[in-house]
Amino acid sequence: MRLPFVLCALALAALSAAVSGCDSHAADKSASGQTQAATSVAAPQGQSRAEVFAHVKEITALGEKLFFDPSLSGSGKLACASCHSPSHAFGPPNALSVQLGGNDMHQPGFRAVPSLRYLQSVPAFTRHFHDSDDEGDESVDAGPTGGLTWDGRVDHGSDQARIPLLSSFEMGSTPAKVTVAVKASPYAGDFRKAFGADVFDSDDKVFASVLQSLEAFEQTPEKFYPYTSKYDAFLAGRAKLNDAEMHGLQLFNDENKGNCASCHISQRAKDGSPPQFSDFGLIAIGVPRNRALPVNRNPNFHDLGACGPERRDLKGQDEYCGIFRTPSLRNVATRKTFFHNGVYHNLEDVVRFYVERDTNPEKFYPVSKSGVVRKFDDLPKRYWENINTEPPFDRKKGDQPALDEAEIRDVVAFLDTLTDGYDPAKDKNAQKGTGINEMKSVSN
Ligand code: HEC
Ligand code: HEC
Repeated sequence: MRLPFVLCALALAALSAAVSGCDSHAADKSASGQTQAATSVAAPQGQSRAEVFAHVKEITALGEKLFFDPSLSGSGKLACASCHSPSHAFGPPNALSVQLGGNDMHQPGFRAVPSLRYLQSVPAFTRHFHDSDDEGDESVDAGPTGGLTWDGRVDHGSDQARIPLLSSFEMGSTPAKVTVAVKASPYAGDFRKAFGADVFDSDDKVFASVLQSLEAFEQTPEKFYPYTSKYDAFLAGRAKLNDAEMHGLQLFNDENKGNCASCHISQRAKDGSPPQFSDFGLIAIGVPRNRALPVNRNPNFHDLGACGPERRDLKGQDEYCGIFRTPSLRNVATRKTFFHNGVYHNLEDVVRFYVERDTNPEKFYPVSKSGVVRKFDDLPKRYWENINTEPPFDRKKGDQPALDEAEIRDVVAFLDTLTDGYDPAKDKNAQKGTGINEMKSVSN
């Protein structure tokens, strides 16, 4: 069984999910003792269930205010929500490859902003992942898996929130600045009430409480893991997929076509929980260098994912170089920038990269005057053996791509069904097409 990355730490540690409002899937795992150790905010001893529930509610509400508060940043202009836009599934609000931040609001990062939805199911990082849920065989080592950020370097939302708050190219703040901001905010009174009358005596205490609140907010099920996409309605038998979407789903799953589902899992887990569209594996797929990023003007700079530069514990261990965590594809159609370096800006280009990376590499990588393609131009050659060569990456130059242009369009049509907020009652075509039961009878 996967060890879910549990943002619900506080409430789940003390109580059941029914009380905390965390999703029941996470709660099941918690009940079976499989969750990660809870983070620090244990409720004071001797609190009743109702009191703990009230405390979780309080800090969740504070977390929401903090998430939208630009005054926490050094510039006073950047909130978590500036990069993690609620109207884009808490992903980037625009088509920039990377967002700008820092005290002058001109400092570029070097990674695309991930969506914050569905992170509740990301397991803690491990180098050797043994799973019995999906593969049914615990002896198989699925390799490095899990952890937050593109390189899996932190396990808890609270530890993660520290990174953007302090980063010089993101919010560029300090615990002292955060304290001043919270103290002057309209929610200062609520903050005192939740964390104690003396909380403002210590910057560290304020900072830790801010991180806990943000983590609690990121666990709000209806905002962060609503499971309200058309595909969820389809799985529940409440919607039909049209021909293009259904064909796209088949191509997405087919091992001889897209084979996307081998990493971006599209079926319910054995325990019936909804598909997350990721197995959370850290994989190298050889994404082209994004020459638009200022950091890449330095030819010696390489974002090697798990082996650095942001992540430091696996530095120098070659087998971790070039690998990034497989993102969930839920809500992917709300994005305008794709892959860890934001090199692509529409989904057709992403899918084309998958199926033509090896058959037509000249479309994606620089070509020298003499016609030589510099394949995998963002990864030094000594790490190339890490690059994935399973289907659709199992071909060579000149072979037929795994999907043609019409098929690529259908896969993208299917990806569009993964966007939350679908309402079958408002969809005039909801009853046209193929339902889940009909699909089963077709494939059996
Ligand atoms: C300047 C833009 C920016 C701001 C502001 C920002 N983030 Fe992020 N966030 C990012 C980027 C870029 C990443 C990916 C970082 C990496 O992989 O190294 C990220 C990653 C994350 C992740 C991990 C997501 C995953 O898929 O594992 C979480 C959680 C997160 N941010 C929460 C926050 C919170 C909470 C705040 C406010 C305190 C915040 N972010 C502010 C850009 C931003
Ligand atoms: C071998 C595992 C694997 C397979 C197979 C795979 N993916 Fe991915 N996918 C990844 C990884 C890893 C990333 C992140 C790579 C990076 O940014 O360096 C990714 C990223 C993506 C993204 C970008 C998401 C974002 O938020 O930026 C999309 C879209 C996507 N995949 C779609 C697909 C489709 C469609 C297929 C099938 C044609 C597919 N993937 C097959 C592992 C896989």
